[in-house]
Amino acid sequence: MMAKLKARKPKRPERPAPPIRAHELVRGVRLAPGWRLRLAGVGELDRAAELLALAHLRLDADVAATIRAGAHAEVLLAGLRDGKQALLYPIAEAAAAGDPNLAIVKMAALLVAVDRDDQIGGIVMTVPPGTVFAELYSKGFLPSHALLGLTLATKIQGLAVDPAARGSGLGARMLAQAWRLHHQLGAMVVYGQFPIRSGLAAYYAATPFEVLPERYGIMLEPILGRQAGIAPSAGEQIFARWSQSAFRAIDHV
Ligand SMILES: CC(C)(COP(=O)(O)OP(=O)(O)OC[C@H]1O[C@@H](n2cnc3c(N)ncnc32)[C@H](O)[C@@H]1OP(=O)(O)O)[C@@H](O)C(=O)NCCC(=O)NCCS
Repeated sequence: MMAKLKARKPKRPERPAPPIRAHELVRGVRLAPGWRLRLAGVGELDRAAELLALAHLRLDADVAATIRAGAHAEVLLAGLRDGKQALLYPIAEAAAAGDPNLAIVKMAALLVAVDRDDQIGGIVMTVPPGTVFAELYSKGFLPSHALLGLTLATKIQGLAVDPAARGSGLGARMLAQAWRLHHQLGAMVVYGQFPIRSGLAAYYAATPFEVLPERYGIMLEPILGRQAGIAPSAGEQIFARWSQSAFRAIDHV
């Protein structure tokens, strides 16, 4: 059964932010007074893993290896440097090499919130939605087209703030910057999920993200032109933000 949600009252519009430049993502985008958000460095992977564990997540070994190899978020940095169409070159290369993972791992961003002393107080990790790739591929999309689909949706894989740094809205500010980054790079939807009845529905609903009703997923057909979607994992609920209301299409999964 298909059920469309009613139009939602828009939240207070935010001021348009200037584009993020590649060097800012490396050195730090202003987050809050005394805080910057930047790509985690090679020497920070243990600390990053410690924070991800607060959200019951493990740091993906392929992403960690990519960071150690000096290729952290290389695809995203190319997009910030040369415009979102530049995302397509490494994607096309990976597709031509028959190894989509070559591009997928370089689209992950492990972003850390650092204070004036460069101490990490929070983390937000964004990844291309691998399940979307797998679904498109299984439905007969060419690997290059399936990879292209990955640029249109971004998953917030993890969000955590060190208990000592909580209470001043760092998490919401990291979410806002994650949205800004991927919106700039062409994502139509940025989404994540949290455990049902964890209390986090109220947390995400207070941000510009929308909390979908339990068991609701995101239909990507209006974006991709083929039936494909993002369903919540068992026991999880989705929060999402769309770049254009025209693409906001939610159906019961
Ligand atoms: C969720 C989290 C990132 C929020 O940290 P933060 O940005 O510093 O948030 P704040 O402490 O400023 O809290 C903002 C508001 O959300 C509420 N809140 C925070 N975490 C909450 C939770 N787990 N459940 C319900 N409410 C929560 C706070 O009570 C606060 O409400 P108030 O403004 O009325 O006082 C942090 O609590 C955390 O790292 N939790 C563990 C990891 C986690 O659960 N991550 C999300 C996984 S999907």
